[in-house]
Amino acid sequence: MKIVKTVAEVRAQVKEWRDAGLTVGLVPTMGYLHEGHGSLVTASVKGNHKTVVSVFVNPTQFGPTEDLDKYPRDMEHDSAYCEELGADLIFAPEPEEMYHEGNTTFIDMTVLTEELCGLSRPTHFRGVCTVVGKLFNIVRPDRAYFGQKDAQQLAVLKHMNEDLNFGIEIIGCPIVREDDGLAKSSRNTYLSPEERKAALVLSRSIRLGQAMVQGGETDAKKVIDAMTAEINTEPLAKIDYVKAVDGRTMQQVTEIKKPGLVAIAVYIGKTRLIDNFFVE
Ligand code: PAJ
Repeated sequence: MKIVKTVAEVRAQVKEWRDAGLTVGLVPTMGYLHEGHGSLVTASVKGNHKTVVSVFVNPTQFGPTEDLDKYPRDMEHDSAYCEELGADLIFAPEPEEMYHEGNTTFIDMTVLTEELCGLSRPTHFRGVCTVVGKLFNIVRPDRAYFGQKDAQQLAVLKHMNEDLNFGIEIIGCPIVREDDGLAKSSRNTYLSPEERKAALVLSRSIRLGQAMVQGGETDAKKVIDAMTAEINTEPLAKIDYVKAVDGRTMQQVTEIKKPGLVAIAVYIGKTRLIDNFFVE
């Protein structure tokens, strides 16, 4: 497995593969890889001849008061893990390689970015769409893999792929959790032992909401109220949002029906964590 830092090197390698008639999968990440990321790499290795993993902590998707500077990094671990999973290339550019001085073009999406994380993090999806659009253009993969953990991101990127005719097959992969239910996240490393226990309230409230919907409850308010009450039993938790939205448009709904998404964002201490379930 190779690790490269420049767009030119990625293009040269992918061209070689393409000329040999091979298919290419792309797994975009910000690194500090865990089994959630690993499940995407494994899916790509299974579904394509070659797999490119990008590792880039993308500055444009962080707000001015967010955790860009302290975002965890461990390239040694990430490369060993990707190699073990059978990836073929890591693209790990420096910020200057991705954003040249005077970069003034961005991808901005309306509607799907208005609710949920788009509301709490107003410039976030502009940064995500821009960097993923750039990665799509750099790698030109056949397939790209994203986690349902970031459900709004997955919906936004599927939509961008259609709106801008990238022609890539976008594949969503299920949420990978710790044994006790907490969704795996690079940001879990910020949690103190006490906060780590408190963070279980997210998956508990998700299970509660999911059981209500599976039991036939369609009233979004009832589901949201029950989930909110569950989260509020935890003194260290502070709710950012608990919402039910349409699974495609990401607009709020009063009646939960297919395709739907119930998503939460909760601060545990200073760490903002997200979780969700799809109604499909
Ligand atoms: P990052 O948070 O590193 O996540 C990379 C990919 O891994 C995303 O598609 C995310 O949904 C997926 N992922 C993370 N935790 C997961 C889990 N527990 N189960 C399943 N999949 C999981 O998301 C980003 O980076 C960035 O926004 C990016 C798309 C790379 C653009 O910068």
